This record gives sequence, structure tokens and C-alpha cells, in this order.
Amino acid sequence: MRGARTPVGVLISGRGSNMQALVRAAEAPDCPYSVVLVLSENPDAAGLAWARERGIAAEAVDRRPFGKDRESHERALHDRLQAAGVQVVTLAGYMRLLTPWFVRTWAGRMLNIHPSLLPKYPGLHTHRRALEAGDAEAGCSVHLVIEEVDAGEILGQARVPVPPGDDEDALAARVLEQEHRLYPAVLAEFVRSLNRERLAL
Ligand code: GRF
Repeated sequence: MRGARTPVGVLISGRGSNMQALVRAAEAPDCPYSVVLVLSENPDAAGLAWARERGIAAEAVDRRPFGKDRESHERALHDRLQAAGVQVVTLAGYMRLLTPWFVRTWAGRMLNIHPSLLPKYPGLHTHRRALEAGDAEAGCSVHLVIEEVDAGEILGQARVPVPPGDDEDALAARVLEQEHRLYPAVLAEFVRSLNRERLAL
């Protein structure tokens, strides 16, 4: 008999294509997680509508009324994650820096996907930087989230070639295709190992 699936929450800010990949992968009968909540700080995030159409709870917690009080905003996000029973948080194009409070609260249970072969190119404009450096390969990384941006333990990476004459859009598309394969696979493995640790206790 299959055990209960681990409830996962996904934080997005925009189109949410990685969130969609996580949701689609969870449709497989042997997937160990299920996406129970999609949250965004941006009420206009396109991914929210997509999730709702799939019957997944999806909510915006607009950051604007909180002004500079980032922690209160994140406490509001956290309340919703808790209420939904979320055990693992995945960041999927969540474009706000998280406060130390939120990161500590979810330490060891929060993953992010980043479009570079970390530790190369943390932060923004990763593809442009890889092209400018003349790199022969690029890729993406899934890592645990710690306070330092894009610096937590790397759980998995996927690589793509950078052909001569490549441009930023083509490279981004090539990497994104890999992101959609990598993130669900790494999340599934992460959840399985969390569950093994629990059983061993
Ligand atoms: C992805 O490239 C991801 O690696 C980065 O932000 C982008 C989000 O895209 N963190 P999407 O919203 O998942 O389509």
C-alpha cells in the first residue's frame, strides 16, 4: 500500500513553469510528494490561475500592504503554509529575498532552483554572465535555501552545451527545459530521503 504523500508548497512570482513541472510530475502514481498549495507575493502571477484551474489551492499574499516589513509578510505566507500542512517548501521563480526568520523556520526543508551551475553565477542574469564569460556549458542547480543567496547545499544539477553564437534567449530556453526535468526529480529524491530519516527515528 502506498503511504501518504508529503505535502509540498510552491512559492512563485510569475509564470510558474517550474511549479507546473512539479505539479505534472506529482500526477505519477509513484510520486512521493503532492503540491497542496501555490503561493505568490504577486497577485498577477500567471501561475496562480494555472494552479487554480488544476484544482490546486493557490493564493496571493500581496506584499505591498506590508511595505518594508518583510518579516510580517512572510509570517502571513508561513501561516498559510502551516494551515495547508506543508512540510517542504519549494521556491520556483520566487523573486523576493527571504528574511532570516523565514529561512531559519524552513531550514533543511526549503529548496530553490537556480538557472546556473552553482557556485557559478548566483543572483541575476545568469545566462548573460555565462555567455560573456565564454563558458562552453551552462545549466541549472537545485539547492537547499540558506540565508546567503543561492549558496545552500547543491542537491542536483543539469548541464547543457553552449554552442558558438548562442544567445541569451536560446540559452535560457535550453536551460529551462532541463529545469523542468531536474526540479521534480530532485524534489522526489529529497522527499524520499526525508521520509527514510523519519522512519529511521
Ligand atoms: C527559472 O529560470 C528559475 O530557475 C529561476 O526563475 C525562473 C522562474 O521561471 N529561479 P518560472 O516562473 O518557473 O517559469
